[in-house]
Amino acid sequence: MRKILAILFCILINLSVSYAQNCNTYVFSRNQKYATCVTLPVLNSHLHWNYYTNNGTVDVAFRHTGSTTSQWVAWALNIDGWGMRGAQALVALISSNGSVQAYTSAITGYGTGLQPSSLSFEVPMIRAERDNGDVVIYATLVLPSGKTTFNQVWQVGPVFNGHPGMHQMSSDNRNAVGLVDFTTGQISVDGGNVGGSRLHRKNTHGVLNVVSWGVAMPIGAIAARYLKAFSIANPLWFYIHSVCQAAAFAVGVAGFVTGIKLGSDSTGITHTSHRNMGITLFILGIIQVLALFLRPKPDSKYRSYWNIYHRGCGYSTLILSIIQVYSGLDILDPEKKWKHTYTGILIALGVVTVLLEALSWFIFLKRKKEEKKTHAETNGGYGANEQV
Ligand SMILES: *[C@@H]1O[C@H](CO)[C@@H](O)[C@H](O)[C@H]1NC(C)=O
Ligand SMILES: *[C@@H]1O[C@H](CO)[C@@H](O)[C@H](O)[C@H]1NC(C)=O
Repeated sequence: MRKILAILFCILINLSVSYAQNCNTYVFSRNQKYATCVTLPVLNSHLHWNYYTNNGTVDVAFRHTGSTTSQWVAWALNIDGWGMRGAQALVALISSNGSVQAYTSAITGYGTGLQPSSLSFEVPMIRAERDNGDVVIYATLVLPSGKTTFNQVWQVGPVFNGHPGMHQMSSDNRNAVGLVDFTTGQISVDGGNVGGSRLHRKNTHGVLNVVSWGVAMPIGAIAARYLKAFSIANPLWFYIHSVCQAAAFAVGVAGFVTGIKLGSDSTGITHTSHRNMGITLFILGIIQVLALFLRPKPDSKYRSYWNIYHRGCGYSTLILSIIQVYSGLDILDPEKKWKHTYTGILIALGVVTVLLEALSWFIFLKRKKEEKKTHAETNGGYGANEQV
């Protein structure tokens, strides 16, 4: 075991050294030298720089490997905010004939066309070139005074008729964001919040909620609706249903809390409708838990109203939960396979539901028939002791 760990450790060290070498040994065309280099985690990008403490300027070289013609690449600092909105970008536009044009663009919103504009800080020099499929943007930035750590974003997109088009929305595109510290040479990914990266927390939030609201609760609802039909399962169905939903709700609360925390920590895009839907679902969940305690006796005249209220809330929760899971999967945008997996689970639950529906009708009709028969046979015989 120790040997295996040692070997793994060696491999890890070697990998990281070769990774760093790939970054540091790169020879720039005019033989520029940069003291610091980091390989950015996504989109085949590297950032090289020299930071000058005396005048607070930084010479950067942003390098994207494997570029093609009709493509734009951009690297930006976001001085006050997070992510794309408000980013102060350096753009390189590779036209269809392979020529490269560099300019600055202050991005005001998501609908940007990356039009040339001046930035909120001075950029005394910017140029770009293409070299063996790498595109490099060189620039000198006069950093806003007193700051050396910034939010950075970088991106790659297509060029149509000489104009930058919208970039893709894959998880790599969405994760091309983080912090850069020009003095220490440290970068952190996706906010790097205390207690694990933000992406990790988003995944935890997703798993907790998919398992509870998205899967366990539908199963609890199916148990309530169909097990009731089989008299052997009475009152077992009731316990299965309450335990299922209570456990799902407990996990769901954890999922809800992580979601609210993610929302309040977020300095970037706010997913308002996802958040509001989450709060609505949480309230519906509490109402359903309360329903358990407020349940009138079976023979109470209020029981039928209670049934309508409990089932109404239940089915609404179910439908909204499923919509919410898909909305969450869209935000998180993991590999599409997760979305497909969830769809698969829903289809399986749907098939089970249809089978149980058919079976319960079959049992219901059979029982009806038998009852009729017994009724006919014992007519006048007062076989009331046979009633269950
Ligand atoms: C900042 O200082 C460095 C080192 O002294 C110098 O090479 C560079 O030209 C200065 N940059 C600007 C924009 O003044
Ligand atoms: C390549 O295209 C750009 C813009 O489309 C144009 O400005 C430039 O002159 C072209 N260069 C060559 C060598 O054709």
